[in-house]
Amino acid sequence: MPKPTELPAWHALQQHAESTAQQHLRTLFATDPDRFQRFSRRYENLLVDFSKQRITSETFELLLELARQAELPAAIEQLFAGQRINHTENRPALHMALRNRSARPILVDDQDVMPEVRGVLEQMRRFADKVRSGAWTGYTGKPIRTVVNIGIGGSDLGPKLVCQALRPYGDPMLEILFLSSIDGAHARHILGRCDPETTLFIVASKTFTTQETMTNAVTAREWLLAALGHEAAVAKHFVAVSTNLRAVQAFGIDPGNMFVFWDWVGGRYSLWSAIGLSIMIYLGYERFYELLDGAHALDEHFRHTPLADNLPVILALLGVWNGNFLAAHSHVILVYDDYLLNLANYLQQLDMESNGKSVDRDGGLVNYSTGPIVWGGLGNNGQHAFYQLLHQGTHQFAADFLAPVHTTDPVGDHHSILLANCLAQSQALMTGRTADEARAELSAQGLKGEALEALLPYKVFAGNRCSSTLLYESLTPRTLGILLALYEHKIFVQGVIWHINSFDQWGVELGKQLTKSILPQLQGRATQVAPDSSTRSLIDYCQQR
Ligand code: F6P
Repeated sequence: MPKPTELPAWHALQQHAESTAQQHLRTLFATDPDRFQRFSRRYENLLVDFSKQRITSETFELLLELARQAELPAAIEQLFAGQRINHTENRPALHMALRNRSARPILVDDQDVMPEVRGVLEQMRRFADKVRSGAWTGYTGKPIRTVVNIGIGGSDLGPKLVCQALRPYGDPMLEILFLSSIDGAHARHILGRCDPETTLFIVASKTFTTQETMTNAVTAREWLLAALGHEAAVAKHFVAVSTNLRAVQAFGIDPGNMFVFWDWVGGRYSLWSAIGLSIMIYLGYERFYELLDGAHALDEHFRHTPLADNLPVILALLGVWNGNFLAAHSHVILVYDDYLLNLANYLQQLDMESNGKSVDRDGGLVNYSTGPIVWGGLGNNGQHAFYQLLHQGTHQFAADFLAPVHTTDPVGDHHSILLANCLAQSQALMTGRTADEARAELSAQGLKGEALEALLPYKVFAGNRCSSTLLYESLTPRTLGILLALYEHKIFVQGVIWHINSFDQWGVELGKQLTKSILPQLQGRATQVAPDSSTRSLIDYCQQR
């Protein structure tokens, strides 16, 4: 595969970006009454409006041509066919198998993985049912009231996002907590909220070697044993989710209380697997299946829909356009939906761990930008905090606005005010405010002369800031499944265009290794010292105090 910058469509896009650099979105809207129809798509109850992106029909065609020249359709087939596209770890990336709700077999090394996938789902269902019904009791015979998921990264962010997002569907008798950070404050805070007799810990770790998770799990076990006084209590209060049976056994968890998944499931793509056990316990298996159904439907859409109408492809190409041709290296996720509080964090890992790469699939350094910096949060709160930079700062960025048309919490006018804010912000970013408009507004307020002219520059908004708006009817399990799979596949498409491996994460290793060498130094039991004066002095400073 040629490098993207060697593709004719890449050059055409560069020239096109130069020749359209002066175009303003205002003009594009003013001159094309059909712009919204042209640049929006619907999928089930999701509307994706990308008309506020800085594109024309020519841009769109060139981007589609780039996807064809990058052989995207073949790459999609390789993904779904279970080829070992994660070449540095010699694995397929088959999270779609976890939500394959059809009868279609999915092969890895000529073996259909679906019987095993269904088997674990069934094991999860039985266990979740027992916990929810009270049939599974703690060591002293009381039903479980609190479930603590101990995990970090992909073994935390997905379940945490989904449990929060679908809270209206959750069992009100159950509290689901997430213990991730190694900071003792987190363990103390979470354990402080738990009753040992009624708490179930799910130790969720693909590798079962992650320092933070294992340390937190040991702390939780000690806390439990200190309260319940007997080793036998562990079997009633600890279950494990992992690919590593041996490490689970070594930790002391009964293999009968283990839920497996497979190395072809990437950590950040794992919420659909047994890593979603906390989700299933909280929501019940029916809702969990609906979540899978939504993701599966989007998988089918991605696999079978022509590029020009294919939502993950469209979002991915817009990201490439923004990042590689308009110098917008930051992608902000703005949710007008409190239930999606954790979406930006979740997408941050999904995107930045997948596409934060600078070596291509052939082992060469890239000479173009890859994955953007992903950040964001609750849009309405952000308006009163960081939006100033979005409207008048010097950085280029692209924004995704997400909002439900209907609310599950009707309170007075709140929802229409929320929606009005969402739509107003993307409009403001797009149109901006010209000097003439600002002058007219200031003079209507009674300002004139020098005072008006002095204030004028501060009142101007350049506009032309690009965004997409994703509106969904309401946040159901199915819709959430659709949304998450949409972003997953978008990230995959971008990895194909950038000719990188979106499924490894070697960049997380060095810090882990250095932690292992710094820890004994901090604890005063090391013979080696850090080679650089900064780290050495910081260690000394901590030790002295
Ligand atoms: O350190 C990064 C990482 O490996 C992520 O990729 C992963 O989601 C997370 O740590 C947790 O890993 P595990 O599930 O193996 O504990």
